[in-house]
Amino acid sequence: MTNVKPIPTAHINCQLFYVSEAQAGQVENLKALIAEHSLPIILDIELFPEKLNQKRRQQLSETSTQPILLLDEKNKLSWLSDGLSVAPEWDKLQRRVVSAGRKSELLLQAAKITSDSTVIDATAGFGHDSLILASTGAQVTMLEQQPLMALLLLAEQQRMSALPNWQKLMSRLQIINTDALSYFAKLQADAIDGIKENDAKVVDIIYLDPMFPEDSYQDSKTGKGAKVGKHMQALHQLARPPTLEQEKQLLQSAQAVVSQDGEKQGRVVVKRPQLAPLLANQQPSESWHNEAVRFDGYFV
Ligand SMILES: C[S@@+](CC[C@H](N)C(=O)[O-])C[C@H]1O[C@@H](n2cnc3c(N)ncnc32)[C@H](O)[C@@H]1O
Repeated sequence: MTNVKPIPTAHINCQLFYVSEAQAGQVENLKALIAEHSLPIILDIELFPEKLNQKRRQQLSETSTQPILLLDEKNKLSWLSDGLSVAPEWDKLQRRVVSAGRKSELLLQAAKITSDSTVIDATAGFGHDSLILASTGAQVTMLEQQPLMALLLLAEQQRMSALPNWQKLMSRLQIINTDALSYFAKLQADAIDGIKENDAKVVDIIYLDPMFPEDSYQDSKTGKGAKVGKHMQALHQLARPPTLEQEKQLLQSAQAVVSQDGEKQGRVVVKRPQLAPLLANQQPSESWHNEAVRFDGYFV
């Protein structure tokens, strides 16, 4: 397995509020996840038994200068962003994941995954699309550059792994806190070594869903397009949309690492709001869309 060091970000100080003494063990689990994955996060931990109603949440996020994490009585870890608590909440996707197929999920039509595919979701975010990708039986490597997001994902994977119905799916996800560009560069270097040693590793599908300017989800004149949900609103506080140059780098380096052998045609699939311009102004091989989103497929 490719061993990629997390991006050398300055440490982020986060406040972690937990609601009862009974959660001390779970707080220790979070600390262990941070250490195990070398996440550059320092937790400032506080017991906060008060009821966290909306008004109190708003006050907390207005007064704190650090990101705030909340561990609720069900051990769900959320991030308090602008008074809204956001969390991956993978359990809420259960129905979608169970019935996911090429008919119901445009992403799966575009990605054409089989259970033996090697898939990278290079912009994992809250991991919702990763779950759909992994519902096919494929192993999915999830890359997330933001340490706070990576911690939310790792904590969610740990929480969901305790539920028998989710264990198989959870075991197919590998979460890595890294920048996709450095991960792809390492994969390419490994592939060159692999060819020399006759042991080249292949990636069949790379999925990209980079940030997009917040005001571009809807057409300003017609109002058509997607509404920005609370998860995306929160993400806009952490991550910026790439510049055109960064878009080009991302697409080119993804295309360089997907499989080019004859049997399996590798592809890069890019998610965009339906009305958005093409990533890096690059014409895709094929596109799929509904009224909200578009998936552009670049076949290699
Ligand atoms: C639009 S969100 C992805 C949402 C995701 N598809 C989901 O289902 O929740 C984009 C995410 O990709 C991450 N990201 C953007 N550029 C990245 C890069 N070069 N490497 C790794 N992660 C990146 C951002 O931090 C953000 O969390």
